Amino acid sequence: MALRIDGKKISQQIKEELKEKVALQKAEGKLGALAVVQVGADPASSVYVRNKKNACAFIGIESLAYELPEETSEEELLSLITELNGNPKVKGILVQLPLPAHINEDKVIQAISPKKDVDGFHPQSVGAMAIGEKGFLPCTPAGIIQLLKRSNLEISGKHCVVVGRSNIVGKPMALLMLRENATVTITHSKTKNLPEVCRQADILIVAMGRPQYIGAEYVKEGAVVIDVGIHRDAGNKLCGDVKFDEVEPIASAITPVPGGVGPMTIAMLMDNCVQSIEEG
Ligand code: GUN
Repeated sequence: MALRIDGKKISQQIKEELKEKVALQKAEGKLGALAVVQVGADPASSVYVRNKKNACAFIGIESLAYELPEETSEEELLSLITELNGNPKVKGILVQLPLPAHINEDKVIQAISPKKDVDGFHPQSVGAMAIGEKGFLPCTPAGIIQLLKRSNLEISGKHCVVVGRSNIVGKPMALLMLRENATVTITHSKTKNLPEVCRQADILIVAMGRPQYIGAEYVKEGAVVIDVGIHRDAGNKLCGDVKFDEVEPIASAITPVPGGVGPMTIAMLMDNCVQSIEEG
């Protein structure tokens, strides 16, 4: 039977640890708030934003909510970011993605001060990560590293295949696994013989965004399988990019959806916020 990697439990542990750290920071007079900005009312984004605010409340940091209408102009959003960059109380700025089509996401990400870039999306944060310098790490890939480490799953020397090359998950995931001394292969929609390449993985990380795509033919006996996908199936049940029932008997460890990678993203966001408060 494969180990079911319990992201809910591990994320809870991390949040408990952060709660203690925040209490110590408060005792030293170190305070700060996370600004959470949402433009429009995409229902999935609203759920994520609510969860992020709840996580702040749990660990004891203040969150400032900015819920802007869909029609907000790029200029208005950029001017809010400038104001938040200059507000000493605000230690982290999170702009929930995706943004409405009339707003240039890259421009918005680049407007956030790298000192407050708790999502780790700013090119300066990405560059620092690439060369192993200090900076905020993107939350989902950093959360996956924590899932592996806290489940005592060895990374060093293992062959890791990452499926997907997005700026938010695939690319930074590959860099972080490399930093942990894995041998890394990045695959994507144009990769030839994808099942064959995936079957070489000791650790298979799937972030392709296609519901229940990865079946048994993609997985080597005993591989560790990390599923970043989150979708609703035909019966409106949450599912990932991996066919869980088919892959679980082959894998040595696997993340479920829900309750695997998802909760870790928020735990790592909180970790970045606490780090930012620490650094003042
Ligand atoms: N949309 C989906 N994932 C994320 C994330 O990690 N951060 C932000 N800001 N938006 C997202």
